[in-house]
Amino acid sequence: MRMKPNTSHAALSAGMAIPKVGPQTSDAATMARHAQAQARSWLQLNVPMANWQGRRVWLVGASTGIGLACAQALRAAGAQVVVSARNPQGVQEWAAQDAGVQWRALDVSDPDQVQATARALQADGPLDLVVYAAGYYRAQRATALNLEELLQHDKVNYQGALRVIDAVLPEMLSRQSGHISLLSSVAGWRGLPNGLAYGPTKAALTHLAETLYMDLQDQGIGVSVVNPGFVETPLTAQNQFTMPALISPEQAAREMLKGWAQGQFDIHFPKRFTLWLKLLRLLPYRLYFPLVRKFTGL
Ligand SMILES: NC(=O)c1ccc[n+]([C@@H]2O[C@H](COP(=O)([O-])OP(=O)(O)OC[C@H]3O[C@@H](n4cnc5c(N)ncnc54)[C@H](OP(=O)(O)O)[C@@H]3O)[C@@H](O)[C@H]2O)c1
Repeated sequence: MRMKPNTSHAALSAGMAIPKVGPQTSDAATMARHAQAQARSWLQLNVPMANWQGRRVWLVGASTGIGLACAQALRAAGAQVVVSARNPQGVQEWAAQDAGVQWRALDVSDPDQVQATARALQADGPLDLVVYAAGYYRAQRATALNLEELLQHDKVNYQGALRVIDAVLPEMLSRQSGHISLLSSVAGWRGLPNGLAYGPTKAALTHLAETLYMDLQDQGIGVSVVNPGFVETPLTAQNQFTMPALISPEQAAREMLKGWAQGQFDIHFPKRFTLWLKLLRLLPYRLYFPLVRKFTGL
């Protein structure tokens, strides 16, 4: 199903505080961006996105779990959503009933598909937000190293994000607006047992988001990284242990919308879990390694 082409930039910017300045050619445009940045509180690293009416969002990897819940929450808030993944089940029916929902089948490991999909979507109008939620996870330890699996994690979790960014960024740069949000994980904050394949891809995504932010903040483009704790989805269904502070995908989606509304860069939740992990991040290795062993028993 095709959604109606998007309205003009001016109409879109009326709904949300994203500065819709033209290409970075005039001093006035640069000054407008600087004024916008100064008007934000120091906590708001991005221009807040709170009003979703008429906004257009592409969610990549959103056929299930957090991505799907996020698409549903954004749609309920008034956004037009484009949902991509490989498996249409659970989305196609929704898209057939709601003109504000579009399904676009996509395998992020296929570079041509990513380029073609992004081109087609951008031909329909600008994307205000692109969420990269595609993810792959299998527990792995170095004592049973599986190279194929390691590379598969890299392909979906990291390279797929690179491909999507490569496909959407030039157009965002040309209009000096838009926002890219990457679904990373607290599992990327520090090394963890069983995270041999998954953890490094998430560390890379977080690093990527940080660097993108610094390069794009004065180009009118927002960047955020989402770091969930444990969320009950098909991805975590394989976990054999009791997941601490487990939340639902709907709760995760609410936290993400809250984070975007507050202009956060690092959207992490649930705080009762992630704040402890942030503390662990500060520990010297001498303390970190034995503590993790004690908590996980691994
Ligand atoms: N659940 C958690 O506790 C948790 C915690 C931290 C971070 N995360 C991250 O949150 C994101 C969403 O995960 P989730 O927990 O919601 O898991 P999920 O329900 O398994 O969702 C993963 C999504 O990625 C899509 N996907 C996988 N391979 C793909 C490919 N080659 N091309 C396109 N789409 C692909 C899947 O759709 P198809 O299979 O239909 O393609 C699915 O829509 C992931 O990046 C995950 O790492 C999850």
